Amino acid sequence: MKLSVPVTGRAAAAVAVAAATLFTSGSIAGAAPAPEAVAAAPDLPVANVKAHLTQFQSIAAANGGNRAHGRAGYTASLNYVKGKLDAAGFTTTVQSFTSGGRTGYNLIADWPGGDTDQVVMAGSHLDSVTSGAGINDNGSGSAAVLEAALTVARTGYQPTKHLRFAWWGAEELGLVGSRYYVNNLSSANRARISGYLNFDMIGSPNPGYFVYDDDPAIEKTFKDYFAGIGVPTEIETEGDGRSDHAPFKSAGVPVGGLFTGASRAKTAAQAAKWGGTSGQAFDRCYHSSCDTTSNINDTALDRNADALAYAVWELSE
Ligand code: TRP
Ligand code: ZN
Repeated sequence: MKLSVPVTGRAAAAVAVAAATLFTSGSIAGAAPAPEAVAAAPDLPVANVKAHLTQFQSIAAANGGNRAHGRAGYTASLNYVKGKLDAAGFTTTVQSFTSGGRTGYNLIADWPGGDTDQVVMAGSHLDSVTSGAGINDNGSGSAAVLEAALTVARTGYQPTKHLRFAWWGAEELGLVGSRYYVNNLSSANRARISGYLNFDMIGSPNPGYFVYDDDPAIEKTFKDYFAGIGVPTEIETEGDGRSDHAPFKSAGVPVGGLFTGASRAKTAAQAAKWGGTSGQAFDRCYHSSCDTTSNINDTALDRNADALAYAVWELSE
């Protein structure tokens, strides 16, 4: 859905200054108004995001019902994402590791260009649990990050900073793939990462709109987007640190992200402001066989995919 975000003029300059505060060490004190070089973030077509989810569902169905670490459904998922990225012109890298006696894989996609001393990363875990296809957890984040990357290519976006997208393996076994990636970065390459944005469960069927409260400038960028479309947000508290941003945060990288809720129940106050059903879990199919393409709220998926694109564009220009 096309959404117009009324962040223009002075507001856009304020956003640009906030981003500059985060991502550069240069002084901005007393600076003239930020240049109006803000590239408009694109609308990510939710139909495209959903088409990726349909592919993940088919992959699970053809591979024993899941896309879990060490199973055929995981490698098929990775090959699907990698094929799209390679065709679009990304430089892809598959990083392998071992967990629980099985080989796991991270997929990293670099968009050629930009300042490699300032890397903006967006990532999501691509593995499901063994009990189901994992379409909300975490086909949703994986599909939205993929569509954002493909939109970078489609629009020929050439940001000032360098863009890197990641799909992590074995998150469900304890953040194994993302931790492996962070542990194997040299300290110089770790220091080059200006920010890591995480997307894990962003289409919950009874959704809340939760923003991680880690790096303040990243948090503000997401909140600006939701304020612009008139959707209230809350800080993410359902098991803080339970996803792939945690290893980055521990290593000192600024992090942020979005989440629409897992097994915790929506309160009456939350239902009053977001709609949906109070007293019911945000995702009743969390880690269950019913986490299928029917387990997605399209409006939540659309809003979060567009917020993702907004943050990637705003923080990388
Ligand atoms: N991936 C998490 C899991 O499977 C889901 C989750 C729970 C989560 N709490 C979270 C993701 C908070 C992001 C933020 O356990
Ligand atoms: Zn998850």
